[in-house]
Amino acid sequence: MPNKNRKCTVSIRLTETEKQTLEQTAERLEFKSISDYLRHLHNEKFKDVHAPIEYTLPKRSVEVFYKTEKGTIYCGDSLGYLFNVAEEKSVDLIMTSPPFGLVRKKSYGNEDSDKYCDWFRPFAEGFKRVLKDQGSLVIDIGGAWKKGYPARSLYHFDLLIMLCKEFGFHLCQEHYWWNPSKLPTPAEWVNIRRVRVKDAVNCVWWLSKTPYPRANNRKVLAPYSDSMRDLLKNGYVAKERPSGHKISKKFSRDNGGSVPPNLLAIANTESNGSYLSYCREHNLEIHPARFPAQLPEYFIKFLTNPGDFVLDPFAGSCVTGMVAENLGRHWACVELNAGFLQGAVSRFHDKGKQPEGENPNASQYQIWAPCAVDIDESEVRVIEDGGLTRPASNKTN
Ligand SMILES: C[S@@+](CC[C@H](N)C(=O)[O-])C[C@H]1O[C@@H](n2cnc3c(N)ncnc32)[C@H](O)[C@@H]1O
Repeated sequence: MPNKNRKCTVSIRLTETEKQTLEQTAERLEFKSISDYLRHLHNEKFKDVHAPIEYTLPKRSVEVFYKTEKGTIYCGDSLGYLFNVAEEKSVDLIMTSPPFGLVRKKSYGNEDSDKYCDWFRPFAEGFKRVLKDQGSLVIDIGGAWKKGYPARSLYHFDLLIMLCKEFGFHLCQEHYWWNPSKLPTPAEWVNIRRVRVKDAVNCVWWLSKTPYPRANNRKVLAPYSDSMRDLLKNGYVAKERPSGHKISKKFSRDNGGSVPPNLLAIANTESNGSYLSYCREHNLEIHPARFPAQLPEYFIKFLTNPGDFVLDPFAGSCVTGMVAENLGRHWACVELNAGFLQGAVSRFHDKGKQPEGENPNASQYQIWAPCAVDIDESEVRVIEDGGLTRPASNKTN
C-alpha cells in the first residue's frame, strides 16, 4: 500500500550509469522501486541519529497526593512532573521500574514491547532534563517472551541502546537482579516442552550522563566468605594464580567486606508485610509488580548520600519512596494510578519502624554450578524438534 502521507517529491540528477546501477540493485534486492531502495538506505544509515521527538505533554500536571518529612507522592502522569514540576538538574538518582513491555499485560497496563521505545522517548527526554550531571538513572526491567513461540523479545535491549545512542546516556554497568523464588515460567516452554530454563533475572540498567557519576562501592559491601575470613585471620602467601593474576599481600587487608558482584540476589517473597496487611484490611488493590526494598536500597546507598534527592517516576506502591525516607534522602514518587497510592501511603504511617526479625540483607541463597545433577545422556536426549510440538505425555519430562 502506498503511504498516503508521502506527497512530496525530490528529483536528483544522475548519470546514465548511476541510474542503471540504482535500478539494477533495487531490483536485485527486491525493492518495489528506486524510491523504496533509497528510503531504506537512508533509514539504515541514520537510524541511530536522534530524530526530533514528537509527543504531547499531559494537559493536567501532577497533583500532590501525600507528603512526609522528606518526600512527596504525586498522582498523575510523570511527564507532567518531569517537565512542569521538577527543576532542571535537581535529581541525584532516578530509581525506577517502568511498566515492562509485556506480551501478556498486567492489570496496570503494560506497554507493547514492539512500541516500547516510542513510548519511552518522552520520559528519556524528561529524565535527562531533571538529572544532575553526575546523577544516575537506574532502570529495573524484565524481559519478555514473544507471543506463541520460545524466543525472547529484544525490547529491553532496544531500550538500552536507544538511551545510549539517541540520548547520550552512558551504560555505567548493567546489573542483574536474580530472584531465587521466581517460579518456572512460561510453563509451556519450561515445564511442558522442556526446551527453555527458568527466567529468573531482571536486567537493571545503571546509566548516567557522564561516565563518572557519583558512586562508592564501599557503601554496599558484602560479607566476606568463610574462606576469605580464614585467609584474613591466618594470612595469605602472595602468589600468581593459574589465570596469571598476581595476588599481592594487599589482598589480605580487611576492608570490612568484599566488593559485591553485579548479580543482586533478592527473593521477592513479601507476603505478610504491613503494606499487604493494610491493603487487605482496607480492601485496596495490592500492586502486582512491586520490587523488593533491597533493590532500591542497594542503588540509593551506592549512588547517593543522605540529603540527596531520589525520584521514582513509575512509583507503583512507592517502595523507592519508603526506602529513601528511611535512609534520610529527599524523594518524590509519581504514579498514574491513584488506587495504588491509597495503599502506598501506609508505608509511611509507621515511619522509622524497622522490619522485625533478621536483617533481610544478610540472607544467603544457594546457586548450584551448572550440571550439578548427573544425567545419563544415553537416556535423556535433546528434543529434536526444539519444542515445536507438545510431548504426547509428560512421562519423559
Ligand atoms: C512496574 S510498576 C512499578 C512498581 C514499583 N516499583 C513498586 O515496587 O511498587 C510501574 C508503575 O508505573 C505506573 N505508570 C505507568 N505509566 C505511568 C506514567 N506515565 N506516569 C506515572 N506512573 C506511570 C503504573 O501504573 C505502574 O504502577
